[in-house]
Amino acid sequence: MIQFSPEKLQEVQQIISKYPEGKQKSALIPVLHVAQAEFGGWLDVPVMDYVAGLLNLIPIEVYEVATFYTMFNMKPVGKYLLEVCQTGPCMLCGSDEIIEYIKQKLGINVGETTADGLFTLKPTECLGACGYAPMMQLGKFYKENLTKEKVDALLDELRAAATN
Ligand code: FES
Repeated sequence: MIQFSPEKLQEVQQIISKYPEGKQKSALIPVLHVAQAEFGGWLDVPVMDYVAGLLNLIPIEVYEVATFYTMFNMKPVGKYLLEVCQTGPCMLCGSDEIIEYIKQKLGINVGETTADGLFTLKPTECLGACGYAPMMQLGKFYKENLTKEKVDALLDELRAAATN
């Protein structure tokens, strides 16, 4: 059964309490972030239904928000989610080549996860770091001014971290 831990439930209730009575839908995006982090990095239908119940919404209200924003994952992702920006400024600075390089290096296509479950490659839209293009988001971190060499070093570092 899908259920937040008592600590996470308290965090969610704190988020909801920031909004006026009857306006709990405003808490949806932050609560979805908590849910995604808590339940394996993606939003399965039962998870979205659980969130709908917590916020007193009908499930479709949650689905339409969750499927609109690329920061929410609608299918399982690897331990490391490589979100490479592909919008104009990053593209002009070589994001296409970076994406292609990662595809070849990991043997996956965009939207896919490596067989070992470590990496998912997900092109995304502008992440607000255009001055450091090309760049990617990796969890809470931005990896900027990407080059093939930097990608090599990053993947090696992540693989090493995963085995420790
Ligand atoms: Fe890539 Fe803005 S275009 S961060």
